[in-house]
Formats: sequence, C-alpha cells, structure tokens
Amino acid sequence: MKGLLLAGGHGTRLRPLTYTGNKHMLPIANKPMLLYGLEHLKNAGIEEVGVILGPIKEGVTEMLGDGGSFGVRITYLDQPEPKGLAHAALVAEEYMKGEPFVMYLGDNLLREGVGNFVRTFQAKDLDCLVGVCPVKDPTRFGIAEMNGEKLVRLVEKPEHPESNLALIGVYLFDETIFDAAKSIKPSGRNELEITDAIQHLLSSGKKVEALRVTSWWKDTGRPEDLLEANQLVLADMEESIEGYISERTQLTGCLKLGSGSKTIGEVTIRGPVVIGRNCSVGPNVYLGPYTSIGDDCTLKDVEVENTIVMGRSRIESRKRIVDSLIGSNSTILDASDHLPKGYKLIIGERSFAQI
Ligand code: G1P
Repeated sequence: MKGLLLAGGHGTRLRPLTYTGNKHMLPIANKPMLLYGLEHLKNAGIEEVGVILGPIKEGVTEMLGDGGSFGVRITYLDQPEPKGLAHAALVAEEYMKGEPFVMYLGDNLLREGVGNFVRTFQAKDLDCLVGVCPVKDPTRFGIAEMNGEKLVRLVEKPEHPESNLALIGVYLFDETIFDAAKSIKPSGRNELEITDAIQHLLSSGKKVEALRVTSWWKDTGRPEDLLEANQLVLADMEESIEGYISERTQLTGCLKLGSGSKTIGEVTIRGPVVIGRNCSVGPNVYLGPYTSIGDDCTLKDVEVENTIVMGRSRIESRKRIVDSLIGSNSTILDASDHLPKGYKLIIGERSFAQI
C-alpha cells in the first residue's frame, strides 16, 4: 500500500496567511499541518508516499526532503494547475504502479489516524473506502448518503443535502479509481471531483464502502478552522518543559515549552499552551488556554488567549489579543506617546482586524 498526500491548492480561503507560502505549512500546535497526515500514513505502515504539489512549493520540499527523517520514501508529483482531487489521483497513476493507496488531503486533521481504514480496506478486499463524519454544515463538503451501513450515493457540496455525513478527505483506492477519474466531467467549479469518481465506481458495481470516524476530524479550509484545530490538538497535548520557567510564573494546566525558551518575571500561563524554541515570554504576560506560540517569538506586557502566533513574531502591547492568527515575522507594539494618536496599521491585502 502506498500513500498519496495532497499539498497542492492555493489556500485562497486562508489569505493573507497563504500569500507567502503553502497552506499545508501553517502550524497547528506548532507543527505544520502536513506532518500530521504524513505521520498518520507512516503509523499505518505506509513507507512510500507520493506528495502532490502545486505551484506553491515553499517550505514543503525543504521540510520533507526525501522523507528519510520521517521514516518514509517521498516522491514529489507535480500538479501544475488545481484541476481537482480526481485529477490529482490521475497525476499519481504512474507512480502507484497498480498498487492500492491511501489518498490523504494534507489540510485535514484526523485524530485517530488511518490505521483502521487500511485494515478495513484490506480485510474486506474493497475497491474503495471513504471516511465519513457527521457535520453541521453539509453543503460545504462531499456528502455520503447511507442506508444503514450501506453507501447509497455520493454528492459533492449538495445544495439540499440528504445526509449530514461529510467525506473527510481520507480515501483508499485500488487501481479502478484511475478509469473512474477518466470517465467523469469537470464540475461547476471546473474541477474533476473525487466524489464524482467514487460515485462512478459505486454505479459501476465496484466494492465501495464508508467508514465513520470514531473521534474528531477537522478540515482546515477557513481561518476559524485553524483555531479550532489548534484547540483540538492542544487538548490532547502532553506536558513537556525543556526551557526555563521563572520563579514568578504561575502555571496551571498543560504547557509545552521548547528548548532555549524562558519566562521572565511575572507571567501567568493557563494551559493548554505550547511555546516553541528560543522564545522570551514576560514580564507581565498572560497566556490563556489554546494558545500556540511559534519559535523565536518575544512577548512582553501582553495577554494572549486562543490564538496562534507564528514564528519570529514580537508582541509588546498592553492589550488582550484573543481568537487571532498572527503570521510569522509580525510585530505588534503599543502606540508611542507622540502625536498624532491613533492606530498605526501595516496590514496586507485581505487582512482582518477588529480593534
Ligand atoms: C474537498 C472534497 C470534499 C471533501 C473535503 C474534505 O473539498 O471535494 O468532498 O468533503 O475536501 O475536506 P474542498 O476542500 O476541495 O472544497
């Protein structure tokens, strides 16, 4: 069994954070989201992984290399245009050489991993297995209509959904998927939809089943999803203190503090909180639950809660920052006492501020 990890796409819904890089490199609990998928594949016993990349490759090839440091062999496959998930599968046809594979959308987080999916696919000798999970907003996803445990129909982003079971972005296929992907037409958004290709398999009598996830699943398509994914991952985090905690730090809940990082003077931390390497936190800092601070950050005189601060950022401000996504290399300071008074903002295209 091989793996196919999708890291193409433009991440338009996550702009401006994705203007300068690949969306799959955005950190969830200080780890690029793509690594969660790669580790799931590896933990399911998969050692050969094709990584689909679009034009925005920044950071991905540097991080993954040939896969050796993650215990897998990686081959990069180029999908120059975002022509859809079924098209991405076709890009990988030659690479798969007839072997079955797990296709994993790199912007999806799945707590339980894919081991159970691989075992079910193999034990039942299926042509295709999809993962499904109930959602509140089924119009945003591919939807599986079921009759008991039997998969009846798949529809991509239906206007009037007949089920609340979303396709979770984890698909297991044998080689029959390639003919199916060649048989379908582009959808309204001009993409070859994997949902349509799977429906084609189902209609032509292939063995297609759906497996419900037993724990949480999160698609990180929108900024608010990143914060929620961060909460879910931090809630499971284990404490680990490699840095230095000052005597006047009040700590409750779970903290992960990276090496070379320190708290200075009065600091209150209410976990779960993760702080990367080489950070300086304090004095007069409050870090509230579900906060991730990337490597090489400096925080002083500030309160931060339910927020992702990416690496190399500096925040020195007597404000309370909540529910925020702060891109790498950002600076947030208090205004000086000089006139004119007011907010001074250097905000890129498509930014969002509530002040
Ligand atoms: C894609 C699939 C959709 C699936 C979703 C999971 O949607 O087309 O069927 O439910 O991933 O994240 P997209 O992110 O392309 O809108």
